[in-house]
Amino acid sequence: MIRRLEGETPAFALHTAGSSYLFRVLPSGHLEQLYYGRRIDPEGAEELASLTEKRSFEPGGVIRYDDADPPLVLEDTCLEMSSGGRGDIREPFLELVHPDGSRSSDFLFETAEITAEKPPFRTLPGAYAEEGRAEHLCVTLRDRACGLRLELHYYVWPDCDCISRSARLLNDSAGTVEVERLLSLQLDLPDSGYGVTCFHGAWVREMDRDTLTLPAGKFVMESRTGSSSSRMNPFFLLHDPLATEERGDAWGFNLIYSGNHYEAVEVNAFGKTRVVTGINPQGFRWLLEPGESLEAPEAVMAFSPEGFGGVSRSMHRFVREHIVRGEWKHRPRPVLLNSWEASFFDFNEESLLALAGEGKRLGIELFVMDDGWFGERRDDSRSLGDWDVNLQKLPGGLKGLSDRLRALGLDFGLWVEPEMVNVRSRLYEAHPDWAMAIPGKPHSEGRKQRLLDLANPAVQEYLIEKMTEVFSSADIRYVKWDFNRIFSDVFSPSLPPERQGETAHRYVLGFYRVMEAITARFPHILFEGCASGGNRFDLGGLCYFPQIWASDNTDAVSRVRIQEGYSFGYPLSVLGAHVSAVPNHQTLRQTPEDTRFHVAAFGLLGYELDLRRLGEEEKAAMAREIALYKAWREVFQFGEFYRGRSGNLHEWTCVSPDRSRAAGLLFQELMRPNTQSERYFAGGLEPESRYRFRSGDPCGLHEREDTLASGASLMSAGVKLAPGFSGTGRDETVRLFLDFSSRLYLMEKI
Ligand code: DGJ
Repeated sequence: MIRRLEGETPAFALHTAGSSYLFRVLPSGHLEQLYYGRRIDPEGAEELASLTEKRSFEPGGVIRYDDADPPLVLEDTCLEMSSGGRGDIREPFLELVHPDGSRSSDFLFETAEITAEKPPFRTLPGAYAEEGRAEHLCVTLRDRACGLRLELHYYVWPDCDCISRSARLLNDSAGTVEVERLLSLQLDLPDSGYGVTCFHGAWVREMDRDTLTLPAGKFVMESRTGSSSSRMNPFFLLHDPLATEERGDAWGFNLIYSGNHYEAVEVNAFGKTRVVTGINPQGFRWLLEPGESLEAPEAVMAFSPEGFGGVSRSMHRFVREHIVRGEWKHRPRPVLLNSWEASFFDFNEESLLALAGEGKRLGIELFVMDDGWFGERRDDSRSLGDWDVNLQKLPGGLKGLSDRLRALGLDFGLWVEPEMVNVRSRLYEAHPDWAMAIPGKPHSEGRKQRLLDLANPAVQEYLIEKMTEVFSSADIRYVKWDFNRIFSDVFSPSLPPERQGETAHRYVLGFYRVMEAITARFPHILFEGCASGGNRFDLGGLCYFPQIWASDNTDAVSRVRIQEGYSFGYPLSVLGAHVSAVPNHQTLRQTPEDTRFHVAAFGLLGYELDLRRLGEEEKAAMAREIALYKAWREVFQFGEFYRGRSGNLHEWTCVSPDRSRAAGLLFQELMRPNTQSERYFAGGLEPESRYRFRSGDPCGLHEREDTLASGASLMSAGVKLAPGFSGTGRDETVRLFLDFSSRLYLMEKI
């Protein structure tokens, strides 16, 4: 609900079920942020007075905005939007260079309008409501000196306790303005001492979680790789430093954008905390001509007094309901078998069919042919860009393969990496100027490939048409859309020198335009995003890809941490997770088969190994795993996720929305000898209801008697692990819970 509160100057209250966000117009015309936290319902101006700043003098060393009494000191005021120059020296929301070279701006309140619709973004994807309706507040500010207009958009998503924000800058003046930054969200809190939790990493080590408390100064989280990046995910948390999974005030933030992003938390000299998020200003410079406008991506925030778990579940609902769209939004995702770790580039139609046939016997539903099917692609040094099937490998073309898979009863999925080109390709020979590189200068390559210049509309058109041709050439039900390098030598041959600062953002806009067109043409295809694993795992991508391959690391021990990291901001329904061979390809680690399955089951289960090399017993276990996953798939994929302990032990529970079914995981990294047997504590159950509790171990190693227990006792008293029989070598029944061991439990309400 959005309310306009009348008083001396207008104020606005944005309410979700559990949170309130309040701001008002100051007599000067600036927007003062008043409150973001637990739900409160102030009646009007009088009640708001207690939330507002009262300053009777200005301290030395600050800038007084004007002659008003009491004085307005912008540096010490919580603001909804800040631009530099008039005394606020903190992180600005907006930075402009005016035609006369000056940099000060001053945007003041002009109008506000509350509507029930979300106007579609013209250049960027955003959150949406199914019926097209949304609670929307647009506040228009104007810089009277230069004539520029700034729209601040606020949306309330009551079903998931989220509020989103975006901005649009319109040049109503007669001169060209240089935009050096236009962020998406600014939140000023009146105090400090908050914890900041961020998710950083690298290839095969995505989503490492770290927390710090910020006493003063600035902490920056950002990506400069061109994509949203594994280096730092755009999702982060601000929280009470003592917050836990269940308790404590916590705010979560994310950005609906797939390019260079920037998040900063700044504690200033007056103990106020500012949070900003948006497109990374580093390297960004946009020329805004008279009559033009520039949109900032939408950013989302959630507040919960119920700690990290509360924020995560709000974000999960937001992603499931308002980001993921199309035919696959609520549709159970198929169990897939991917050819990559089974055969890399070395395959032909017969070997693929042999692999797929094994998969079918075990219960696989979708077979995905990964990299290597086109042009002269024998390794990663050539042919990206030449999207014509290699008839030596696949004599019947894509159609021949898909027909034969269909005859086996399998759906066909295809890998592509359309945004890239190898110099050793026919595409590059024909269009060297379509690659992103600085003419006449050496180019630094990544994975022996270059980015196509998606800032160029001709390249966008070509990709839309070429991919349409490929995706129409066979019965393709799934596409894995890969993106295997980061940006370097950022330069668009299609843009003039003075617009090169627009290249990285124009690339992202081009990517969205291509995805918008392709997903509209192929609504039935399930698109999975991928960027060497999780190098582009973000809400912008999820507007087009209902799921994303979380990491090239398929080692179960690494995956527990990676998937748990994602779970803070993203639901399991978007998270690709595969069982692979041991020793693991990335870590050379040996983990038990049941652990590999248990971990991958908490996500979108797939397999990625050469099934033909497995023994009959292993295959039988896999068939049981897949059958179990199918029977519980709705819970794993679309359930509410509860994290328990996280450290040497990881404890997860997924609960169906009606709380009638739940699946639990207890995973141990390293066993400590001679300790008591462990317990599993469930999360998210109905305390009063009774549940049938059983082992969900399809490998038959950890059988236990079914028990009946109340939700309360499963959550508070926990359940002691039953002994497993992987032993010490001396006595197989002694050791209960080994290195890399895990247990899967199933709970059903009776
Ligand atoms: C990187 C992906 O993450 C892998 O799964 C695989 O598709 C390779 N690219 C293929 O080149």
